[in-house]
Order: sequence, then C-alpha cells, then structure tokens
Amino acid sequence: MLVRLLYVSRAADAALKDLDNILQHARTYNAEHGITGALCYSSNIFMQVLEGSRTEVNRLYATILRDPHHTDVELLHYEEISERSYGSWTMGRVDISRLNTSTVLKYSEHADFNPYANSGKMSLAMMQELVATANIIGRA
Ligand SMILES: Cc1cc2nc3c(=O)[nH]c(=O)nc-3n(C[C@H](O)[C@H](O)[C@H](O)COP(=O)(O)O)c2cc1C
Repeated sequence: MLVRLLYVSRAADAALKDLDNILQHARTYNAEHGITGALCYSSNIFMQVLEGSRTEVNRLYATILRDPHHTDVELLHYEEISERSYGSWTMGRVDISRLNTSTVLKYSEHADFNPYANSGKMSLAMMQELVATANIIGRA
C-alpha cells in the first residue's frame, strides 16, 4: 500500500543553515525505509512530498511534525497511489529562489512561493513540474 503526502511549513531561523545535515540524514533514513520524495524551499518556506508505504510515511511525518527546524506544518495533500512519481529520489532538493518565477506563477495567484494560499492539488502539480523540468539538486 503506497501513499503520497504533501505538506508545507515555515522554516525556523537556523533551518536553512542545517539543510545539508537534514538532507544527509533524510537520504540515509529514506533509503533504508523505502521513502522517496522531494523537498522544495525558499527563504522561509519548506514544501515536501513523501512517498512510500503508508506506515513508513505516516511514521516519518509524525517525526517531521515534531522537528523544531520548522513550525506551522500543514498537510496539503494525502492520497493512496498505484505508483511512485519520485522513485529516483531518496530526497530531491529544489531551491525555489533560484528558479524562474514562471513555474510558481503558473500554479499560484501570485509569483511568490506560498503553498499556504494554494490548493494541495496545485502545489502537487507544481512540484511535479519542478521535478519534470529537472530543477532538482542532489539526486543522491
Ligand atoms: C523540512 C524537513 C524535512 C525533513 N525530511 C526528512 C526526511 O525526508 N527523512 C528523514 O528521515 N528526516 C527528515 N527530516 C528530519 C526529521 O524531522 C528528524 O529531525 C530526523 O528524522 C531525526 O529525528 P530523530 O532525532 O527523532 O531521530 C526533515 C526535517 C525537516 C525540517
């Protein structure tokens, strides 16, 4: 039973400085637990998609909810899936601030990256496009 989960959160002050460590830990843990996905971030917002078994995804999300590196964690989308979309990524990394704003604008009312104001479906579509257009750093 595979699921896909998408959430948004506000990065705590030191979180972006710790991002390399967070991702390094994440890639090891995720590889060991069959979790794939991608993490998008701008100066103060994280948006992450997680895929894997329902048990593993729910367990990791519970850990992520308690992580002081961010606040205001909000679930945007959760669905059962028949196949993965991010199967190649133990955790892909997308720096939104380095992107052309047109991808964000395509799926949002404004050009600033604010998934809190958008539907989960649109945010998921934006994430898919970022991955499809290979704006991902660090496949690992
Ligand atoms: C935005 C964000 C995304 C994260 N993504 C993952 C992830 O995909 N996999 C993972 O194992 N940890 C991830 N973490 C780290 C976990 O929240 C947590 O710190 C880590 O699993 C260590 O937990 P522990 O100290 O309870 O062992 C993420 C943290 C943040 C802030």
